[in-house]
Amino acid sequence: MPSSAFAATPYPVQGSPDNHLWLQCWRERRTAFHQSVVNPQLCRFWPTLELAYGSRVFVPLCGKSLDMIWLAQQGHEVIGVELSTVAVRAFFQENGLKAVKRRVGKFVLWRSGKLSILCGDYFALTPADVGLFDTVYDRAALTALPETIRGLYVAHLQRLMPKIVQVFLLTIEDAADTADLSAAMGIDTEINTLYSAEFAITLAYVESVFEDNSAAPEQPTRAEYKVYRLTSK
Ligand SMILES: C[S@@+](CC[C@H](N)C(=O)[O-])C[C@H]1O[C@@H](n2cnc3c(N)ncnc32)[C@H](O)[C@@H]1O
Repeated sequence: MPSSAFAATPYPVQGSPDNHLWLQCWRERRTAFHQSVVNPQLCRFWPTLELAYGSRVFVPLCGKSLDMIWLAQQGHEVIGVELSTVAVRAFFQENGLKAVKRRVGKFVLWRSGKLSILCGDYFALTPADVGLFDTVYDRAALTALPETIRGLYVAHLQRLMPKIVQVFLLTIEDAADTADLSAAMGIDTEINTLYSAEFAITLAYVESVFEDNSAAPEQPTRAEYKVYRLTSK
């Protein structure tokens, strides 16, 4: 997965500097980030948002996530954005969905029933392309981008957003120190820095998990799974 460091990039971004790496990942089927089941934290905590049936959910950097299928099954209209045509085609094909395609601005919109994906660069999206939405679902979107561009991701999200929106944000963070359970993790600080000016932030859930480490089996790695609810002020 791309994880390069970049100098601060001025806005507007002419494509994230990692774009070619993501396109290559999809071409070469290096997609370990893709989950073969619906995210358990999504199923567990999404209902706490108490959204109206039929409300519209924006899924930035959506890949071919099965979470979109689940969201549509809950009655939502889903609008994703994804850079790679390989990913978008796979999403519809692998789920047995026949998509209709049409051009929208700089994007190709793929649509089947309640599920739509705009294929192209998130940073090129305009509010007219994406339309109105009530909620943002972010799993491995913000954190997929180089740290130097995450502020631009949030600033762009705010340009796209109607006034009142909730963001449902899932993060996974690897601990630097597996022994010390209280060892500081940096993601809270980053979420605060990026979102606190415009959003009230609630950390709804934290789970600390030890995971197998094939490089050093006697030293499992520790990861923290977090669920944040952000509500526009
Ligand atoms: C870590 S993956 C997560 C995918 C999905 N959210 C999931 O949970 O499986 C990040 C995705 O963002 C896409 N991506 C990266 N940069 C993008 C950009 N600038 N515009 C649109 N999609 C982008 C990549 O192609 C990749 O599918």
